[in-house]
Amino acid sequence: MQSAPSKLILCGEHAVVYGQPALAVPLGDLRAYAEVSAGTPGSGLSFVAPDLGEAWDAHVKPEHPLSELALALLASFGITQADLVLRLHAEIPLASGMGSGAAIGTALVRALAAWFDQELPPAQIADLVYASERRFHGTPSGIDNTVVAHEQAIWYVRHLTPAAQGFTATIEPVVMNAPLHLVIGDTGVRSMTRLPVGAVREAWQADPPRYEAFFAAIGQVVHRVRTALSEGDQQQLGALFNENQALLQEIGVSSPELNHLVAAARQAGALGAKLSGAGWGGVMFALVTPDQRSTVTQALHKAGATRVIATTVASS
Ligand code: PMV
Repeated sequence: MQSAPSKLILCGEHAVVYGQPALAVPLGDLRAYAEVSAGTPGSGLSFVAPDLGEAWDAHVKPEHPLSELALALLASFGITQADLVLRLHAEIPLASGMGSGAAIGTALVRALAAWFDQELPPAQIADLVYASERRFHGTPSGIDNTVVAHEQAIWYVRHLTPAAQGFTATIEPVVMNAPLHLVIGDTGVRSMTRLPVGAVREAWQADPPRYEAFFAAIGQVVHRVRTALSEGDQQQLGALFNENQALLQEIGVSSPELNHLVAAARQAGALGAKLSGAGWGGVMFALVTPDQRSTVTQALHKAGATRVIATTVASS
């Protein structure tokens, strides 16, 4: 059995697709799991994923992103035939901006690598999972697979190069001088990443200067968040998360449900709150002091969050 964490983008989502920096943290206590066991001879790869509501055989659904991921990995090991049962389980809300796809993919890669006694560095796992994430939306920035595979807080900048040349990214560990106490609220609205990402692309194509100004403004906020994290300045962080939320609303990726939860958290005293991930649904988070945690948790429940998760990101 192997596992991988969920993730939260602290700031910079969407703008990161256009070359601006973003900051993301892994959430180690909310994970996806993959277990490998021997299958019957000749069965090939059988997937059992009750949380995804799916069970399938790779030879029947070779185009399934997880079939592709597993088959690509085995091919890289020089294995063309393996009879295995792959059980997948996720504690992570699906399609909610918490990186469930990257976490399931990473857990699967780690489990298969362990089964075949292969050591894979995080960067290689991140690349494999990226290729599979591309099937969900055409232009993932790569931040999800990177933070999940490295399992550490990262500063991430995708360098824009012509599409045919692929891309490179700057990945740096983030200095955090104080732990972050977060309360995450799930709107319960499932959101396919590629839809808001596609809408932002269309809006940008229609009015490049306006959208590039938004992306640059988000990038500035992310730079200031990095400084506030290194100084452990919680008040400033809260204010910056609010500023980032205002910009995400302006580019059109928030939603009434997200705005409602964000407002409820702020009214309950949170230092700041914003959506996280692609938007139009999924989750938001609030930055709180330990004292505020239970009040904000209750406020989010009362405001209709389908799930509320209180978590602490350790300093680093
Ligand atoms: O909802 P998620 O976790 O898939 O968030 C995607 C983050 C975006 O910046 C909107 C897209 C990307 O590829 O970085």
